[in-house]
Amino acid sequence: ARIQIINGPNLNLLGKRQPDIYGHETLDDVAADCTALAADLGLDLQFYQSNHEGGIIDCIHAARDTCAGIVINPGAYTHTSVAILDALNTFEGFVIECHISNVHKRERFRHHSYVSLRADGVIAGFGTEGYQLALRRLATLVTG
Ligand code: DQA
Repeated sequence: ARIQIINGPNLNLLGKRQPDIYGHETLDDVAADCTALAADLGLDLQFYQSNHEGGIIDCIHAARDTCAGIVINPGAYTHTSVAILDALNTFEGFVIECHISNVHKRERFRHHSYVSLRADGVIAGFGTEGYQLALRRLATLVTG
């Protein structure tokens, strides 16, 4: 099964951006770890990052016909984007929402997620390991 991982704004700076909160691993490190795990799990992985809401929406649309599941870290759009929620609602596969930090331990404005209204599962506060946990869960879900 094919899985799309989507990362939103500022996550291109992972490893350099507030490492006390997000850690020292880069997004390339995350992609490499996830690609290796996906091979073990028999998943075909695609990795995407954009700082633009429309790019993320286009990526979700492209996944509609091609992917069984999505792992999405929408970054700050988590807390603001009805448009990303609407796009995910057009996707018929499984959706896991993933946050590196524990958003519930942080500012109040990070406690609400539009994407959680669609997500089949949510991961927060497991660091970059969360992406791998999300992939393991998707492997379970797609194989029934
Ligand atoms: C984040 C949490 C968001 O609140 C924040 O805007 C991000 C990253 C996380 O992975 O912990 O950009 O999604």
